[in-house]
Amino acid sequence: MRVGIGILGFGTVGGALLRKLIEENASISTKTGLEIEVEKVAVRDIGKLRSVALRDGVLTDDPMELVNDPAVQLVVEIMGGEDPAGDLVAAALRAGKPVVTANKALIAARGKELISIAEEAGVPLLFEAAVAGGIPIIRPLSETLAGEQIDRVLGIVNGTTNYILTKMTEDGAEYKTALAEAQELGYAEADPTADVSGADAAAKAAILASLAFGTWVASDRVYTEGIDRLDATDVRIASELGYVIKLLAVAENTQDGISVRVHPTFVPGDHPLAVIRGATNAVFVEGPSFHELLFAGPGAGGAPTASAVLGDVVDAARELLAGAEVAPPIRFQPGRVLEFDSVVTTWYLRLEVVDRPGVLAQVAGVFGDNEVSIKSVWQEGEDDGATLLLVTHGHAESRQRASLEGLRSLEVVRDVGAVIRVEGAGPTPNL
Ligand SMILES: NC(=O)c1ccc[n+]([C@@H]2O[C@H](COP(=O)([O-])OP(=O)(O)OC[C@H]3O[C@@H](n4cnc5c(N)ncnc54)[C@H](OP(=O)(O)O)[C@@H]3O)[C@@H](O)[C@H]2O)c1
Repeated sequence: MRVGIGILGFGTVGGALLRKLIEENASISTKTGLEIEVEKVAVRDIGKLRSVALRDGVLTDDPMELVNDPAVQLVVEIMGGEDPAGDLVAAALRAGKPVVTANKALIAARGKELISIAEEAGVPLLFEAAVAGGIPIIRPLSETLAGEQIDRVLGIVNGTTNYILTKMTEDGAEYKTALAEAQELGYAEADPTADVSGADAAAKAAILASLAFGTWVASDRVYTEGIDRLDATDVRIASELGYVIKLLAVAENTQDGISVRVHPTFVPGDHPLAVIRGATNAVFVEGPSFHELLFAGPGAGGAPTASAVLGDVVDAARELLAGAEVAPPIRFQPGRVLEFDSVVTTWYLRLEVVDRPGVLAQVAGVFGDNEVSIKSVWQEGEDDGATLLLVTHGHAESRQRASLEGLRSLEVVRDVGAVIRVEGAGPTPNL
């Protein structure tokens, strides 16, 4: 059966998708029973040299013309950004056309609104490629596990930062050196801010949490810390303790409410996420019935992302051609999203202190005053100063931060070198 599609964007993902549709047309048709015909492709610069040749009249620089073209039955949005992509997606849905998008920024910002427009219009809005590129994770969360209780989702959802952290862990590289190498190899962009600040991972974490827990979480409710201030010293110490530092997206659903955060994290060496190396992404899902599920694979890149987009196109086209009523899209219930201050976390701290008797007692006193208990404490270094390393037990962030303020005001603490959250109970060093 034939279906006409329009593609908004002919960049990295668009080029890979068009190559797939043209080169593998026969095999796609054999496998799916669909003849996918590209009717229109919208770009910004129509004069640019393109990697795939298209029929005359297919390329346009008017994206709304594509959306309104009667030959376009289904719209693929792979142009990126919130504007004008959001309004184009909304217009396509309102016109009764299914939409497939890979745009995490758009879904994180306007997903709730667009999903409800799709529901009203009775057409699907699919976004498998928006989180963790080529890994099927959206469908498992929103369909396969729809009836399940999900307690936690942990994810390595940004390949650039995982590549940098892998270099720091395995080669002992400093952050800046590892970033420069990632840029040279094309894993990081010239302006890496969105990746290294954690913003990209936060948008994906918000989408994962919303689907896993059935309550919409806006991305500005995600507590976010990046890897840009990470020191090679802490990466080395983590390794010595049998841990590895990862930029983790953590979404939790507790009796008190939902919390979502992204920050560098000490991950135990025997955790399934500890072995996720390089630009690979992974999502680890925990629930009482299925216990633990791990989804891992390429989180980005033209071909893997195009493969996820094509999967959605096939799904949406089948629904469209079947003419059957579309399955209701994800429904969101109101729910409580916790302030980060009340979330319980375990901390690792590296303090630069003066080396004299009584320092430890003063440091311990600050934690005691804030009712934060210390799991382990040990010392590195000698001479005119010392490095004190501490791991706390799990406590509310507000209490941990109050301790941090107290430590900063101590005359014997020269510097708080690092604060990194810990997954699990935390290391106990063999002293
Ligand atoms: N690249 C990845 O590995 C990856 C992975 C997962 C998800 N995604 C998502 O997929 C989407 C596309 O990413 P990409 O890397 O393929 O982007 P890209 O290489 O920058 O390509 C964007 C394309 O959209 C076109 N475009 C942009 N703004 C336009 C406008 N206002 N009107 C018409 N055309 C416009 C551009 O036209 P010109 O060619 O004329 O400039 C270009 O062809 C993004 O939402 C991204 O987050 C990408």
